[in-house]
Amino acid sequence: MSLLLTGIGELTTNDDELGTLHDAALVIDGDSVVWTGPASSAPAADDAVDLEGRAVLPGWVDSHTHLVFAGDRTTEFAARMAGQAYRAGGIAVTVGATRSASDEELTAVIRKHVAEAVSQGTTYIETKTGYGLDVPNELRSAVLASSEVDEVTFLGAHLVPQGWDADSYVDLVCGEMLAAVAPHVRWIDVFCETGAFDGQQSRAVLQAGAKHGLGLRVHGNQLDYGPGVRLAVELNAASVDHCTYLTKSDVDDLASSETVATLLPACDLSTRQPLPDAQSLLNAGATVALASNCNPGSSYTTSMAFCVAIAVLQMRMSVSEAVRAATWGGARALRREHEIGILRQGARADIHVLDAPSITHLAYRPGVPLTHAVWRKGTRAR
Ligand code: NIG
Repeated sequence: MSLLLTGIGELTTNDDELGTLHDAALVIDGDSVVWTGPASSAPAADDAVDLEGRAVLPGWVDSHTHLVFAGDRTTEFAARMAGQAYRAGGIAVTVGATRSASDEELTAVIRKHVAEAVSQGTTYIETKTGYGLDVPNELRSAVLASSEVDEVTFLGAHLVPQGWDADSYVDLVCGEMLAAVAPHVRWIDVFCETGAFDGQQSRAVLQAGAKHGLGLRVHGNQLDYGPGVRLAVELNAASVDHCTYLTKSDVDDLASSETVATLLPACDLSTRQPLPDAQSLLNAGATVALASNCNPGSSYTTSMAFCVAIAVLQMRMSVSEAVRAATWGGARALRREHEIGILRQGARADIHVLDAPSITHLAYRPGVPLTHAVWRKGTRAR
């Protein structure tokens, strides 16, 4: 069953040859895009929708979330807004609540946030374990997530849980925990930061994951300068996420690598950190992604449009740079840039229609819900 979307005022394809089209059309067949081009030469299809001049872009690719959690950290957030600093240790509160929750409760939390994200134009979601921090709870986090989201990352090395010394816990993560979780995930991640895991421990976790065939991701340089970016680049991680504190040499390393710098501006706002220097990364030639980092502690939002608006208004990214980072950049951070985050023949039909004539409105009208329609894998999701 094919569907023609026509009357597209502005079509952001992220394809280098197609670029941005005006007065365009697009045809979906099944779960794929089969044609994009000028409305005047669109082929016939089984059905058609006239978008009456609206802007169309690839669905948001949210390449960094932590949706397997229970409980609430409103009090910690309020204390932060009253002047207290963010510390990695807050993760332990969510670990306690997550361990106490039933499978049904955890699934309901994941579904609620996925539905919330999709209704705002997100069509591809990565999520992490990391609030279980023991073998049974990391395993069930991975299993539950894998039936609700597109990609799952094992983040057993999120924090050293109470009662453990760091090195013994790293041994557990790299041994029994990884063996149990690896069949259910595509990626392994580590929080490489003072208060979590140092460079040597992070390297051990990533190398163990690689031995199990997992792709690598790193939480790095969030709260201070540190070894995260260097390690991610050296081990050819797909992304290093946060990148709030970068030296010139971190920027140069990223620019000469395949590792995507995933920026999480909603997190930096919510933890009262400085915003990352996106322009230095882009000027140096690094690939930048934007993601929500939805989690109950440091960034409790599913809104990719909010992240795009911050990136434009406060980080001096152009609207095109920010939209590309939140779509194609996220896809690249998941090493799927030929399938998602792009609208051309053969790509997955993940389509976001704005109730606006151009993507500029995402920053021009910040905070306004602009999502008009969403197709996810070819199926109308809103
Ligand atoms: O990406 N940085 C580490 N992990 C999460 C924070 C999780 C939390 O505070 O619960 C993050 O910000």
